[in-house]
Amino acid sequence: MTDQLHEVAVTVNGVHRSVPVPARRLLSDFLRHDLRLTGTHVGCEHGVCGACTVLLDGQPVRSCLTLAVAVDGATLTTVEGLAAEDGTLHPVQQAFRDCHGLQCGFCTPGMVMSACGFLADDPDPDPDEVREGMAGNLCRCTGYAGIVDAVGQAAGALRDSGADPRARHVVPSGPGHADTTGERP
Ligand code: FES
Ligand code: FES
Repeated sequence: MTDQLHEVAVTVNGVHRSVPVPARRLLSDFLRHDLRLTGTHVGCEHGVCGACTVLLDGQPVRSCLTLAVAVDGATLTTVEGLAAEDGTLHPVQQAFRDCHGLQCGFCTPGMVMSACGFLADDPDPDPDEVREGMAGNLCRCTGYAGIVDAVGQAAGALRDSGADPRARHVVPSGPGHADTTGERP
């Protein structure tokens, strides 16, 4: 007997997608296997590690604990939805790179998405608030110091730019901003 399929329509990273899935399909599997957005990582599959965190209508959620059919009609952001169209990293991604907030990188998509949600709620956190805000995400590699530094750096950059941490990065244009096209004058 085959599972009955249910059409799930979402806007993910600004693009409308609609796919028929079984009622039991997890959001993490929907993203990775049905939509081929493999930036969302799956670690524990029990809601413990946070590697699978994505933004659901702007709020961080564990995609391994969420059914795809439950998000029909929602707006989702995955780690693929953060860098600018030209590939320039989002301030949170750039800060993780600058502050050595990752080693193997497995936890990083979930860390980055949690940080985006956290900074939307608390744009000017102190290090203890960052630790508390990121406590639901586990990393096996870094010792966390770089991650805390990264979230702090990202907070400053986002405050300076006025950008919503959950939005795709937009490269500033005009005088005073570096050329990121790679073209020589
Ligand atoms: S894979 Fe979802 S919380 Fe670990
Ligand atoms: S960087 Fe390896 S698990 Fe976090």
